[in-house]
Amino acid sequence: MVAETKKIVYGENLFSLQEYYQFLINKWSNIPHIAFPEFCLNQSAEDNIDNNNNDTFIFYDWESGRLKLSYLDKIREKKSRELKRKKITDRKSYYIDLVSSIKYWTKTLKNPSRTDPFYRAFHIKQDLKNMNIKDYWLIDATCGAAEDSIRLLTYGYTVWAFERSPLIWILLEDSIRTARLELSESSSEEIKLLDRFVLLPGDCRLFLESLGVTKKLPDVVYLDPMYNSSSNSIVVERKASPNKNMQVFNILLEKSEEESEKESEKESEEISLFDISYMVATDKVVVKRGKHIKKINEKRSSFSYVGKSTRFDVYKKIV
Ligand SMILES: C[S@@+](CC[C@H](N)C(=O)[O-])C[C@H]1O[C@@H](n2cnc3c(N)ncnc32)[C@H](O)[C@@H]1O
Repeated sequence: MVAETKKIVYGENLFSLQEYYQFLINKWSNIPHIAFPEFCLNQSAEDNIDNNNNDTFIFYDWESGRLKLSYLDKIREKKSRELKRKKITDRKSYYIDLVSSIKYWTKTLKNPSRTDPFYRAFHIKQDLKNMNIKDYWLIDATCGAAEDSIRLLTYGYTVWAFERSPLIWILLEDSIRTARLELSESSSEEIKLLDRFVLLPGDCRLFLESLGVTKKLPDVVYLDPMYNSSSNSIVVERKASPNKNMQVFNILLEKSEEESEKESEKESEEISLFDISYMVATDKVVVKRGKHIKKINEKRSSFSYVGKSTRFDVYKKIV
C-alpha cells in the first residue's frame, strides 16, 4: 500500500510519492510509442485485486525507502486464504539491487575466472586500458535487471543501457536513485562506476538507427534479448548473483513481451536488433544465447565463448 507521507530524494529534488510517480511517468512518456502501464501505478492494491480479472496482479509498493514491484498470484492467494483464513500478505516483491551487484562484481573482478565466457568476451586488455578507457563506449541494448551492465562497468566501459519494458525501467530508475544514496558514504571506486552508467528508456533500435547520422559510434553493442524462452538463461545464469528473485522478473518480462506474442515476430525483432547493432558498432557486437540456440547470424559470426548453459557469440568488426 502506498503511504502518501513519504519524501523521496531524487538528486536535488524532494518528491512526495505521488510526485515521484508522476516524474517517472513523464520521463517515460517522452517515448511516444509506448504507453505506461497505469494499472500498476498509483492505486491501492487491495482495492483493485478483486476487481481485476487476471490471475496475476502486478503493482508497485513503497517499502524501506524504495519502490518494489509486487506480484500476486490470485489463485494461490485464494487457496491460502481459504485454508489459513489470512489476509493478503504473502506477496512476492521484486526490486533491483544495484548496490549488491556493484559490490559483488567489483569483488569478483579482483580474482577473475579466466575461463568465464562473459569475462573472455568483454574484459578489456591492458593495452587498450592504457589508451583512453573513458571513451570505450558500450551499448547494452537489453538492460533487464542491469546485472550485465554492472559487470561491464566494473571492466571499465562507459555503458549506455536501454530498457523498453516500462515495468522494469521504473525499477531500474529507482535502483539508480537508491544506489546513489547508499553509495554516497561508500568508497569512491564504487560510486564512480555509476558516473559511467547512462540508463535510457525505450526500444534501443530507434536510438541505434539515429546513430547512423552522427559521427560518434559505440565501440561495442551487447545484446541479451532472450526472446527464446527455451534458452532459459535468466534463471540458470543468475543463481550466484545478487538479484535472486528471478521468478518475478520472468513474469514481468512475459508481461512486457505480451504485445508481440508471435514467435516469428520476436525472431524478426531480434534479427533487426542485431542488424542495426552490427551496422553501428565499430569494434564488435556480442550476443548472449542459450548454449544450444542457433546463432543469430551464422555468416557474420567470428567466434564464441561457451559456458555451462549460455554462449557469447562475438561478431568482430575489426579483425
Ligand atoms: C534477458 S533480459 C536482459 C538481462 C540483462 N542482460 C541482465 O544482466 O540483467 C532482456 C531485457 O531486454 C529488454 N529488451 C528486449 N529487446 C529490447 C529492445 N529492442 N530495446 C530495449 N530493451 C529491450 C527486455 O524488456 C528485457 O528486460
